[in-house]
Amino acid sequence: INKIAVLTSGGDAPGMNPCIRAVVRTGIFHGLQVVGVKQGYQGLINNNMYDMNERSVSNILHLGGTILKTARCMEFKEESGLEKAYQNLKNRGIEGLIVIGGDGTFTGAERFSRIYDIPVIGIPGTIDNDLYGSDFTLGFDTATNTVVEALDKIRDTADAHDRLFFIEVMGRDSGCIALRAGVAGGAEAILLPEKETAIDELIENLKSGSNKKTSSIVIVAEGDKNGGAYDIAKKVKEHVPSYDVKVTILGHLQRGGSPSSFDRVLGSRLGYAAVNALLNGETRKMVGLKGNTIQLAELEEAISTHEFKLEPDLLDMVDILAI
Ligand code: F6P
Repeated sequence: INKIAVLTSGGDAPGMNPCIRAVVRTGIFHGLQVVGVKQGYQGLINNNMYDMNERSVSNILHLGGTILKTARCMEFKEESGLEKAYQNLKNRGIEGLIVIGGDGTFTGAERFSRIYDIPVIGIPGTIDNDLYGSDFTLGFDTATNTVVEALDKIRDTADAHDRLFFIEVMGRDSGCIALRAGVAGGAEAILLPEKETAIDELIENLKSGSNKKTSSIVIVAEGDKNGGAYDIAKKVKEHVPSYDVKVTILGHLQRGGSPSSFDRVLGSRLGYAAVNALLNGETRKMVGLKGNTIQLAELEEAISTHEFKLEPDLLDMVDILAI
C-alpha cells in the first residue's frame, strides 16, 4: 500500500495527539503518504482531509484533545454515509484507514471494512477504558490522574469544613476511572455501574466510620444505577440530616489536559503498531496493550465482548483501607 488515512472519532482522549504523531511519522518512514481526516467519520463523508508530513505533527506530543478534531457521526451509521466515505477514500487513492476511538468508532469501522475493500485498523482511545483487547485505552491514565488531583483539592476543603462530598466522575458504563481514582485518592466509598451498592449499605458504611472521621469522600461513576451524585447525596442527607453534604460533578475537565507519560508512550506504541499492521496486510483488527506487549484483536471481538476490567483486589480493599 502507498497511501493511508488516520482519524479520531467519538469522545476525545488525552494521548490521541501522540498517537496521530506516531501514525504519521511511522507511515512516512515506510514511504507511505499519510492523509489526516478532520472530525472523524464526518470528515470522510464531507471529504474533509489533508495531506500530512513529518512537520504536521511537530510539537503536539504534549497536547490534549486532537489536532484532527473529532465528532460522533450519525450519518456513518447509514449505508449512504458509508458509501460516500468509501468513494471519497477511493478517489484519493487511500488504501488503508486507521481509526482512533472507542466502541462506537469501532462499530462503524467494523461495518465499513466488512462491506468495502479498504483495510481498517482500530486504536483504542477513550478515557473510559471499556474496550476488550487492551488492558488500558488511551486517555484513561491521564483522566484518572486528573480526577486524583481534583480529589486531593476537594479533600482539603472537605476536611476544613468536616463535610461529606459526593464526587461524580465519567464512565457511562464503566467504573474504571472511579475505582482507580478512588483508591489513589482515598475515597471512603466508590459507587460503580458494574457493582450494585444499596443506599442503606452506603449509609451504614459512612456511619461506621463517623466516630473517627469528620470528613469523607464518596466517588460516584456517572453510570451507577442509583442515579447521579445529586440523587444519591439527597437520599443520604434525608437519612442522616446531620451530615453537611456537598456534590461536585467533575465533567468534561476529565477529558482535557496534557497526556501523562503513560498515555504518550501508549499512544506512540499503538500508532506505530497500527501502521505496521496495515503494512503486514491486516484488516478489521484492533491494536491493544496486553500485559506489556502490543497485540492484535479482532475488531468484532473488541466491540462484542464485555470484559470485566475492575481489579478484584482494588474492589476488595476500598472498604478495608477506609476504616
Ligand atoms: O466515552 C467517553 C465519555 O467521556 C464518557 O465517559 C461520557 O459518558 C461521554 O463520553 C460524554 O460524552 P460527550 O462528550 O459527548 O458529552
